[in-house]
Amino acid sequence: MSEPNTLLKLAVETALEAGELIRDRRNAVTTMAVSATKTTFTDVVTESDTAAEALIRERLRQARPEDAILGEEGGWSDGGSAVRWLVDPIDGTVNYLYGIPQYAVSIAAQRDGDAVAGVVHNPATGETWTATRGGGAFLNGEPIHESGCDRLDLALVATGFGYDATRRARQAAILQQILPSVRDIRRAGAASLDLCSVAMGRVDGYYERGLGPWDLAAGALIAEEAGAVVGGLAGAQAGPELVIAAGPALFAALHDLLAPLRPDGDV
Ligand code: IPD
Ligand code: CA
Repeated sequence: MSEPNTLLKLAVETALEAGELIRDRRNAVTTMAVSATKTTFTDVVTESDTAAEALIRERLRQARPEDAILGEEGGWSDGGSAVRWLVDPIDGTVNYLYGIPQYAVSIAAQRDGDAVAGVVHNPATGETWTATRGGGAFLNGEPIHESGCDRLDLALVATGFGYDATRRARQAAILQQILPSVRDIRRAGAASLDLCSVAMGRVDGYYERGLGPWDLAAGALIAEEAGAVVGGLAGAQAGPELVIAAGPALFAALHDLLAPLRPDGDV
């Protein structure tokens, strides 16, 4: 088995196990079940986030003790190999808290900084998206492809908002400018799932400012392997400043709509 496939196998097994843990705990969760907050008092962590990340770290450590791990809740663990794991135990924690079935475990493996394998698993729906670099993208084992949409006015575009109030005010103002030019907007509440939606044509495009590497790494690889372009403004790489994802026939139009509005800034 090639290295990306070996890494993917471990990522999928681990994501499914963590997914079972968070799904089983979901019924005991209420909107009061917040165990900590992060950037703002609405940026929440539940005990399920912490428990799922601990499980994922343990499984990755057991199988590959030399690899580094960056997890949203647990931070960095250094490693001596060229492989680094990026882990979001629950992407879409606010959906999870409210019982909205749009949350996912996201695990990516990078070699020398480039994502080579990734899985996004939604335990509430049983959907598992996977990709390896150069090996295509799949939903539950079936190949997937971006929508092929080439008209901005027909494009369904997903986006998301940061937790910080100043940033959100700016994001809302940008949205107001964009809405008349596209078919409609969706705010599903989990960045990794938004990227997988681009990958399978469930939406035509996506943009967001402020993602962490754990939100982005697996979903971006899956979207790229499904034929989408994933980038930032003016040829920049996708990153915390901005992510734009769309099929090649739509990317430039979405980029050019966004660019003058400077969606990569907060003021
Ligand atoms: C959040 C979700 C959301 C996005 C936020 C992320 P979390 O991740 O992906 O859709 O808009 O920027 O922080 O906090 O649920 O892991
Ligand atoms: Ca998270």
